[in-house]
Amino acid sequence: MEYVKFVLNNKKISIEIDESELLIDTLRKRLCIKSVKQGCGIGECGTCTVLVDNQPMNSCLVFTKAVENKNILTLEGIDSEPIEKAFAKFGAVQCGFCTPGMMLVAYSMIKSGEEFSKDDIKRHISGNLCRCTGYNQIIEAIEHVLKN
Ligand code: FES
Ligand code: FES
Repeated sequence: MEYVKFVLNNKKISIEIDESELLIDTLRKRLCIKSVKQGCGIGECGTCTVLVDNQPMNSCLVFTKAVENKNILTLEGIDSEPIEKAFAKFGAVQCGFCTPGMMLVAYSMIKSGEEFSKDDIKRHISGNLCRCTGYNQIIEAIEHVLKN
């Protein structure tokens, strides 16, 4: 066991972890962050996405000790209302399993302050799989929220 400190959703966390503990397990099992979904567990689906210093990462592939002193954001810690409204407006949510990860990718793009083309949006969400929507609605929603 060892201690690790990081900032989660703007709160300082100090927690005892197993050396090989994965961030997804620390978040879901110990810190009750349920927006982070357990999907494939091998870095293929993106449903476990969190932002680490505003970079989307698959928390199923990250050891918790690797986020020492970093800023972690999940859906619980962001102002998601504008993104939620855009996703609702464009019908970008069906089962919702991919939605927290997709929204976090959108949030990181907004926070970067850069401009993004449709192709850029496609590239940014390429690590996040959606079995339901066919992606067009999600791309349109992100395009909308980036412009407004
Ligand atoms: Fe992490 Fe699928 S659960 S990428
Ligand atoms: Fe079902 Fe995306 S809405 S996986």
